[in-house]
Amino acid sequence: MALLSLKVNSTWRALRSAEGAPALDVIREELGLTSTKEGCREGDCGACAVLVGEHVGDMVRYGAVPSCLLPLGTLRGKHLLTLEGLVEGTEDGLTPVMRAFLAENASQCGFCTPGFIIALTSWLAEPRVPDLAGALQAIDGNLCRCTGYGAIRRAAARLVERFKYLPLEPMARLRALVEVQVLPPSVLEFAAESTREGSSVPRQNSETTSLPRGEVAPHAVVGGGTDYYVRNPEPEKGFSPLLTQILPEFGQIRYVSDRGERWLEIGAAVTVRDFFASPVVRGEVPGIERFETMFASTLIRNLATVGGNVVNASPVADITSMLLALGAQLVIVPETGTEDNTAALRLCPLEQFFLGYKTLDLSAGEVLKAIRIPVLDEPSSRRFSFEKVSKRKNLDIAAVNTAISFRFEGGRWKDVRVSLGGVASVPMLSTEAMDVLEGASCDVLDGKSLAGLARKAAQAAASSISPIGDVRGSAEYRRRMVYQLILAHFVRLFEASGIAEELFP
Ligand SMILES: Cc1cc2nc3c(=O)[nH]c(=O)nc-3n(C[C@H](O)[C@H](O)[C@H](O)COP(=O)(O)OP(=O)(O)OC[C@H]3O[C@@H](n4cnc5c(N)ncnc54)[C@H](O)[C@@H]3O)c2cc1C
Ligand code: FES
Ligand code: FES
Repeated sequence: MALLSLKVNSTWRALRSAEGAPALDVIREELGLTSTKEGCREGDCGACAVLVGEHVGDMVRYGAVPSCLLPLGTLRGKHLLTLEGLVEGTEDGLTPVMRAFLAENASQCGFCTPGFIIALTSWLAEPRVPDLAGALQAIDGNLCRCTGYGAIRRAAARLVERFKYLPLEPMARLRALVEVQVLPPSVLEFAAESTREGSSVPRQNSETTSLPRGEVAPHAVVGGGTDYYVRNPEPEKGFSPLLTQILPEFGQIRYVSDRGERWLEIGAAVTVRDFFASPVVRGEVPGIERFETMFASTLIRNLATVGGNVVNASPVADITSMLLALGAQLVIVPETGTEDNTAALRLCPLEQFFLGYKTLDLSAGEVLKAIRIPVLDEPSSRRFSFEKVSKRKNLDIAAVNTAISFRFEGGRWKDVRVSLGGVASVPMLSTEAMDVLEGASCDVLDGKSLAGLARKAAQAAASSISPIGDVRGSAEYRRRMVYQLILAHFVRLFEASGIAEELFP
């Protein structure tokens, strides 16, 4: 078995464990770093959070992820920081984040505390102006059963007050955080090692990033692992998946031209965080960033991939619902020889990919390489909205979701696509709602006529589905939710027209 090199706190280590082992087990059992706790093992509690540093372009960046769902192999060549590593070099064994917790009595039994410290440290490392909303968002994937969140909130507020003037330039930010001992010196060592020419830092190489040509070993394809490891919490010993996150060409967002059309191509291994943060995605789909926090938690978004969301084929997958409305096509390639596969690739419209419940137009030996969104001549003309109902605001799978994308041409609706999730065995388009809207004339300031059109489209969508009932909602509840969510799209998109008062007087 090939050795797997990564920097663990301040030391480079070569591990023998299988690439498919959940990192949490290796961290606690092989590395003996027991500050990282095992709670739910399902990505729900954040007790197992660790900081992962990686080289991105000329920079190094850090993000917190749940190690219970993290395939060890994705840490190859990266920097793994646990609490034991964070306190290295501190005067009293405490970082300022820990001191804020102490000052506010924000820890009782302490089981959740390492996860909160890691998540807040990760938030401080992001090159943004710290504010309380951002701090609370950073810990939306962390649960505490005994302290109560008031004290944790006060600790976060202390950090906002103390660190509001951190530099915004990424490397200057990391240096400043090392200076004040929020981060350890090993962060700057890692940055230097990663960028040094001819560095001894182990790099990803083709031997470890794709299977040998013509040979398909029994294994699974794993992106972030946030679905895979929930289903397989203890994979077989020696399990070695094909990790899409370490295939460099699977991680890009770029423009491509193919068969006379221009596309924005999003690599299957692009994380949900990077998808929403991407300036090009934001440019092509104006306003899409508003919907980021409707997906899981910060910890999960840092790990989950866009491709995993599609291939997991949940009928209520949120990114899939958005991509359906955006007219996405999938780029599918043979998994052998994934690096030179232009000739072998095939395209599949996303709506044709789902053949039945968790049954896909994807053969054994094929992988999803990327997702393409058609590029508009005037991207700013695209209107887009996403809605979802779930029991909890964070960390909850939708009962029903929907997205809509269209543009106006000569005062009429054009290229309308409406997706629905949670109303059938597969994510789907509502062709009935699309037919109502396509070509309809529209005055964006006429709330009354917009309300009439919204009701017609909502009725068409709700009456054309035959949902089943389950623990998340009865069939009738889902039908009503579809009706309401289509109205909600209109309220969001035409706020200035006074449509809300028309629909809900
Ligand atoms: C706590 C929690 C909250 C969640 N909340 C949400 C939510 O709000 N909304 C939502 O939509 N989802 C949610 N999810 C589900 C999950 O995070 C998403 O579906 C995520 O996008 C999956 O991506 P991944 O990379 O982690 O998938 P993985 O677990 O790596 O893979 C999922 C499946 O796809 C296959 N696969 C992955 N990549 C490829 C590829 N490139 N080619 C072929 N096969 C591939 C894998 O074999 C696996 O069967 C949540 C999960 C958890 C644990
Ligand atoms: S153990 Fe709960 S998120 Fe990992
Ligand atoms: S301090 Fe006990 S669970 Fe949070």
